[in-house]
Amino acid sequence: MGIAMSELKQKKLYIKTWGCQMNVYDSRRMSDILSPLGYTATETPEDADMVILNTCHIREKATDKVFSEIGRLRDIKEDRAAEGKKTLIAVAGCVAQAEGEFIMERAKAVDLVFGPQAYHELPEMIVKATGQRIVNTDLGVDTKFDTLPQESLNHGPAAFLSVQEGCDKFCTFCVVPYTRGAEYSRPVEQVLNEAKKLAASGAIEITLLGQNVNAYHGEGKDGKTWGLGRLIEEIAKIDEIKRIRYTTSHPVDMEEELAYAHRDIPKLMPYLHLPVQSGSNKVLKAMNRKHTAESYLETLSQFKKHRPDIAFSSDFIVGFPGETEEDFEATLACVKQVGYQSAYSFKYSARPGTPAAAMQAAIVREEIKQERLERLQAVLNEQFLAFNQRVVNTLQPVLFERKSDKSGQLQGRTPYNQLVSVPANDRLIGQIMDVKINHASPTALRGTLELLEVAE
Ligand code: SAH
Ligand code: SF4
Ligand code: F3S
Repeated sequence: MGIAMSELKQKKLYIKTWGCQMNVYDSRRMSDILSPLGYTATETPEDADMVILNTCHIREKATDKVFSEIGRLRDIKEDRAAEGKKTLIAVAGCVAQAEGEFIMERAKAVDLVFGPQAYHELPEMIVKATGQRIVNTDLGVDTKFDTLPQESLNHGPAAFLSVQEGCDKFCTFCVVPYTRGAEYSRPVEQVLNEAKKLAASGAIEITLLGQNVNAYHGEGKDGKTWGLGRLIEEIAKIDEIKRIRYTTSHPVDMEEELAYAHRDIPKLMPYLHLPVQSGSNKVLKAMNRKHTAESYLETLSQFKKHRPDIAFSSDFIVGFPGETEEDFEATLACVKQVGYQSAYSFKYSARPGTPAAAMQAAIVREEIKQERLERLQAVLNEQFLAFNQRVVNTLQPVLFERKSDKSGQLQGRTPYNQLVSVPANDRLIGQIMDVKINHASPTALRGTLELLEVAE
């Protein structure tokens, strides 16, 4: 006989998420897994019976933030214990994967540490963790998606769907191959089932996620291997899904099939996030990126040929070991040839265990990194503004995703992934509406709804 719902003890779960969209997706899946155990979400750790920190290891600062958060939680845990309440503290994600044992040694308040490929075992781990502290950093991904609950109801109109995980590229600066393990693509059937479930529970837009999403090579319905373009074509057949995006791509795996998809599939949004990292071929080689600045620019023009209005985005690292002023100027020159809609730029941060961390002799001084970052961002900001200004005074179809912090306003996105704030009623969340764009800044737009004339 099953347990009646009323007998199931209600518990509160607080999840804090850092890092990439993959972590956002994983956090939602963790709350899916815990909901049948009686856990409901809370925004305040003081109320939480269980806290999960879903962490990011990509740069040093990201890691530092996790340890300061653990300090704050230790105090909360002690206060709660004084009131006779138990608090389970779990560290998940990429810091957990990279520094599992170290976290246990350094932070005694932590009960449970598990990596990105082990969270499907959460229910068992929680039971065990009542008597002991646990570290689970198993990297075998094959069984995870099979055992996760199917439905994820915990999303808004724009949902994430993880299709590919891990990375075999080993860029010399990056921790991801060590924290996420080897590349793995989910079978097409499994992805489609999840997409249909998301659609049935209100998703209008799906963003397909992967550390190298364009390297997707899942087992197709016909037994053959399907690439990302083919997968997108199939997802586009789901009626309720009106928009499809994907991120993050790697220049080496870009295939023309995907450019054709941008030409032929109207639901595939005209936006491509393709990180180049640097415009200097010498630096790209030292980074082990396996592409040149020229081949990157060639890829962008191929996509533009098939989808002329496509918006481009990238990631940049400044101050990689050995980067000279001339190398940095090559990055600026590369940027100037593109005209980005958005981009993320970072100062190089040495990560323990990566090959670049051993390039001690060629370290770039902090002041120089800072100065280059500012110069790069000045050029990028001009481009973002120019891109955004181009849609001012036009009508753009905007998918309303959420309420904005300002009351009476909603936030949504244009096809080019531009963030727009619009005065509108909450019931328009989940709708795609034509918005007249009135104002542009480098990072956002403001607009108004086009309303029909109302007779007096
Ligand atoms: N898989 C994606 C993104 C990986 S992490 C890709 O290959 O593009 C996201 C971004 O963080 C990277 O694109 C890179 O620009 C940045 N990054 C990764 N490691 C870094 C490091 N050690 N220091 C600074 N930035 C880093
Ligand atoms: Fe990291 Fe490079 Fe893999 Fe991207 S492709 S996740 S930057 S190793
Ligand atoms: Fe960070 Fe891990 Fe994503 S290191 S960027 S959370 S894959």
